[in-house]
This record gives sequence, C-alpha cells and structure tokens, in this order.
Amino acid sequence: MLKYPHLFSPIKVGNVVFRNRIFASPTGWVDIKDDCTLGDNAIDYYVEKAKGGAGAVCIGECQVDKPRSPRGNRCIDLLNPFNLFYLGRMADGIKRHGAVASAELSHCGRYGGAAKGPSEGTVDGHPVTAYSTEEIYDIVNNYVRSAVNAKNKGFNMVTIHGGHGWLPEQFFSEYTNQRTDEWGGTREKRARFAIMICDKIHEACGKDFPIEFRISASELSQGYDVDEGIEYAKALDGHADIIHVSCGIHGTLSNDEWQVCAPTMFQEEGALVEYAANIKKEMKHSLVGTVGSISTPEFMEEVIASGKADFVNCARALMCDPYLPNKARAGRDEDIIPCIKCMSCWSSIMTGLLVCALNPRTSREAQFPLVQKAPVAKNVVVIGGGIAGMEAAVEAKRCGHNVILFEKNDYLGGGMHCEEKVPFKKYFRKYLEFQIRNLDKEGVDVRLNTEATPAMMEEMKPDVILACVGSKPAFPPVPGIDGKNVVTAQYAFENPDKLGKKVAIIGGGLVGCELAIFLDMEGLKTDVIEMGKVINAPGLGSQGLAVKRELRRRGMEVTFNATASKITDECLYYMQDGQEKLIEADTVIVATGQKPLDEEAFAFAPYAPEFQMIGDCSSVANILNAVKNAYTIARDL
Ligand SMILES: Cc1cc2nc3c(=O)[nH]c(=O)nc-3n(C[C@H](O)[C@H](O)[C@H](O)COP(=O)(O)O)c2cc1C
Repeated sequence: MLKYPHLFSPIKVGNVVFRNRIFASPTGWVDIKDDCTLGDNAIDYYVEKAKGGAGAVCIGECQVDKPRSPRGNRCIDLLNPFNLFYLGRMADGIKRHGAVASAELSHCGRYGGAAKGPSEGTVDGHPVTAYSTEEIYDIVNNYVRSAVNAKNKGFNMVTIHGGHGWLPEQFFSEYTNQRTDEWGGTREKRARFAIMICDKIHEACGKDFPIEFRISASELSQGYDVDEGIEYAKALDGHADIIHVSCGIHGTLSNDEWQVCAPTMFQEEGALVEYAANIKKEMKHSLVGTVGSISTPEFMEEVIASGKADFVNCARALMCDPYLPNKARAGRDEDIIPCIKCMSCWSSIMTGLLVCALNPRTSREAQFPLVQKAPVAKNVVVIGGGIAGMEAAVEAKRCGHNVILFEKNDYLGGGMHCEEKVPFKKYFRKYLEFQIRNLDKEGVDVRLNTEATPAMMEEMKPDVILACVGSKPAFPPVPGIDGKNVVTAQYAFENPDKLGKKVAIIGGGLVGCELAIFLDMEGLKTDVIEMGKVINAPGLGSQGLAVKRELRRRGMEVTFNATASKITDECLYYMQDGQEKLIEADTVIVATGQKPLDEEAFAFAPYAPEFQMIGDCSSVANILNAVKNAYTIARDL
C-alpha cells in the first residue's frame, strides 16, 4: 500500500492520463537561445523532472506573440520554425519518462516591450497604448497557432498563463481594462478574451486535448479581489479543463506583492491553498490545481485527500529535488532534498541559467550525471563540518572515496547551526538534518569534538585534504566594540533571551535583517543601521526583497547611510548626514559580515598531494556558493 494513496492516484483528463497529482509548475528562462529556441540544458532540465516522477511537466513562458510580447529574449517562441525540432525533443523526452508534457502559453501584454495592453495606462511611469479589436483577435489566433504547434510537436496539454498579471488577467482586471467594447465594461466581457482562447484551442486541438488555465485568485491591493477572482474561475469552468490557482501580480517592479506568486520563507507551507479550495467549491466541470510553497509529500497528500484541489503544482521543490515524486511514492521522504526558499533560483533566472542553492545539478543535468564514480578511490580528509564540509564529504563518499570528516564542535552545520530556533529557518533546519542523515547513510567517518591539526595530517597522510574551515565575524573598528554588551549575530540567534529588551544591530545585510525579524518575533525592540542605501544582499536580490517586505509588514525599518561611531553601555551612536545620532540598546549586535579563515586553512596545504579550500574559507559568500563549490570539487577528485 502506498504511503500517499491520494497523491499517487492516476487520473484521466480528456484523453490524457496523469500518473499522479504532482505537476512540475512552469519555470521559464532556462537556457533559451538568442532566437528564442531551446538550448540542450533546457531540455535536460525539464526531462529530469519527468524522470523524477512528476505527473506533468510544464515548460515555462512560451511567448505566443513574440512581436508584441517580448520580455527580454529569454522566452520560448513556439512559432519559430527553428524551434520545432527542439520542441519535439522536449516533448518526447518528457513523455518517454511517463509524464504529460505541457507548454505554457504566455503573453505579458502591457508589461512587454511593445507596451500595449487592453487599455491605455502606464507601467512604472512608461506609457502603454491600447490594442485595437483586430489586434486582439490576432493575439487570440496566435495563442491557438502556438497550441497547435505544441500539439503537433508532441505536447499533450497546454497551460495558459492567465495569472500573475499576464495578458488574460489584464483583461479580467478593471485596473488594466477600462474598455467599453465587447472586451470590457462588465465582468462577463472582461472574461471573454480568456474564454475565447480556451474555446478556440479546444476547437483546433480537440475537446480531449486538456487545457490548464493559470489564474490569480486575487490581484491583492492593485486590482481585483478574491470574490471577483472566483467569478473569473467560474466563468472558465468547463472551458478550461484544469484551473490552476495562484495569486498576485509580478508584472511591475514597483509592486512587491509579486512575492506572493512564490511565497517566501516568511510564509507558511501551502500559503495559497485556501484560494484554490474556495475555487474548487464552485467548480462544476473543471478540476483544480493549487500552487505556492508546497514541498512536502505529507502536505500534498493532505491537500488532495481533503479535496481542496485535484493537483498540486510545485516549482521550487522540484528544482531542488526533481526526484521528489519518485521518492515520495516509494515512501523515502527523508531522501528528498528540502527546498529552503532562499530564492537563489528566482534571483538567477534573468541570467538565463537557473541555479538551485542545494542542488548543483539543476539546469546542468548533463554536466553532472546523477551518479558518478571516481576512477580511483582516494583517502579524503574533510576539515570542518559546516555546509561546505558536509556536502564535500557526502559527495566524495558517493563518488567512491574513503572519507573522514573532522569537526571541532560537538555538532554539525557550522554557522547555520545557530539559526535553530528561528521559525522561518525551519527549512534550513530540515536541510541540516537531511545532510547529517546523508553522512550517516553514506558511511562517512564523522569525528565530532575533534580539531584537525597539521600534525595529525602529517601522520595520516591522506591523498586529499579539503579544508572547509569557514569564516569568523568581521568587527568594524568602532570605539566600544569590545564592550561586554557587544555580541555577534551568531550569539544573538542562539541566545535571544540574553540580550535584554532593546537591541541595535550594526549591518543591514541579510544576516542583520533576518536577525532583526527574528528578534522582533521574540518581542525585543530591534533597530538596524546600515552604511549603504539598501539591504545588502549580493547575489540574492530576491531574498533581499523578501526580507524588506517582511520588515515592512512588521512595521520595522532599517536606518540607511548610517555608520556606527561609538558604543557605550547604553547606546549605539552612529553618523548620518554629518550628524551623530543614537539608539538606546541593552545589547549591540555586530552583523557586518564575515572574514575567511584562510590562514587556518593554509596551514593544512603541505600535508596532502591534493589540497583544496572550499566554501567561506576560500571566499565568503552564501549557501549556494558553499554547496556548489563543495559538490564540484568533490566530483573532480
Ligand atoms: C525560478 C522560477 C521561475 C519561474 N518561471 C515561471 C514561468 O516561466 N511561468 C510561470 O507561470 N511561473 C513561473 N514561476 C512561478 C512558479 O511556477 C510558481 O508559481 C511559484 O514559484 C510558486 O510555486 P513554488 O512555491 O512551488 O515555487 C517561476 C518560479 C521560479 C522560482
């Protein structure tokens, strides 16, 4: 008997059978060439999700109307004849592994380079003009031509992107559609564009060819609300076979509610499920999918079993582990790489090569085969059991080497360990537990409470030393910084109860801001000062925005352009605009970055024929860097 019987119950829609209820939600912008055709990495990336067991795999952002809807050049063009060969390979690859292949038909309307939409208006201050009726019919026709091309190349479903502020939603919303002709003026008329697309695709591709329609249940503050969203879903009932319910708009940068589209670590698992459940209650014909921070099989099962939705769509969880469905089906939940919602993926999409912080294979599947064995087994010593050390040890062992991991503390996880009590870091905790299990399962010889020394290495004579000794806090030269009331961010994360009632944090980077949110949750009055003008989140812009949004939601502000000038027993003083100001604080917390422990690592260099420094000790960065660095070096041994 399966552990998750509802999740893995097959279902037929039209003439298409889905082997389970897990859909790989569209995730575009992966390796698209300059002429908007698919690169090999894109094909491997999506096919991997089919291999991993998803019921359906949707290829993201296929623009149906390139002349009017270019959004960068990183969207798939279904109408480009040079793409047909690659689309065929893609559909074949996905279906060969048992999944349904879907192509997302996308048009960003007013947010595209042509700056045209249902009605006149402005986007981020730039003017937008309105389509003529003729143009609207032409666009509908392009949706249909794109669907027909997708079907002809082997796709067995299409997903119309009618949410997140894209064109069908622009027609739904009075905010972007003030037309008074047959396309606007009433809800019924505003729904006409979406319904026409569905009906005409069914006419051209057959009634049995399933159409999934992605809708935003609400545009939140900047458009229609949930009640109106339900009306549009009802209008589509029976026209689309599956209503895939998301929420929010991400067309314009000036509105940070786009983050709702991909709920952040500050939101709960399944943050958008209730929207789908409400729409599901109203459906007479169409099935319903839900999306948004759905990452554990237990939760997926609960959603399907409770009847809140018929399908769960997962984007980040399957980027992190495309084999999640197969592992869940086999009851091997503990082997699933848990997405930590760090937003590295989101931050990377505009670069054209997607990354996942915890899965270095994502969008590089051919470069890194799932299993790799080293030609010669070596004796490898890993020094340091933080993120980099654990990953290096696990991967080196998987490649067939003999691995000993030395960790001077009585715990693994290094700097990340201190965030154990932080509620919104529960995903990180899961990841640490996952890696600790992997070390055990792979049989790595882990020696806790053991500080590796050069003398030990001289005696052991390993073939390889991997120094993963990490970093230490960098303290700015501020008078009073060595006072008893000054602590590190790590200490503050571990001991929120020992900081008094009021704290001041020096440093508005991710660490400082996340700490501020945590301490606010703990009931401490928390102030943050930052030298720069913005939250300092290099390489992780999207997480910076998530933090900013959460600070605002909690009524907190970072004081920018502020440089610490002096610390006393009661206050943190800082300079801003040439004036000295102060914050009263029981404790001052230093979160001004880390310094690599490079000298400590260099000391081991002479003691093995192969020596590498990995993670923070080589270059202080983030978890993405630590994992990738460790994984690739371990594979090269
Ligand atoms: C890196 C990335 C790329 C995405 N690309 C697309 C896309 O091409 N089309 C789309 O409709 N949604 C896209 N999304 C949104 C996802 O399909 C999904 O709605 C969102 O991430 C929430 O699901 P999750 O919590 O499972 O990640 C993307 C999300 C991410 C993180």
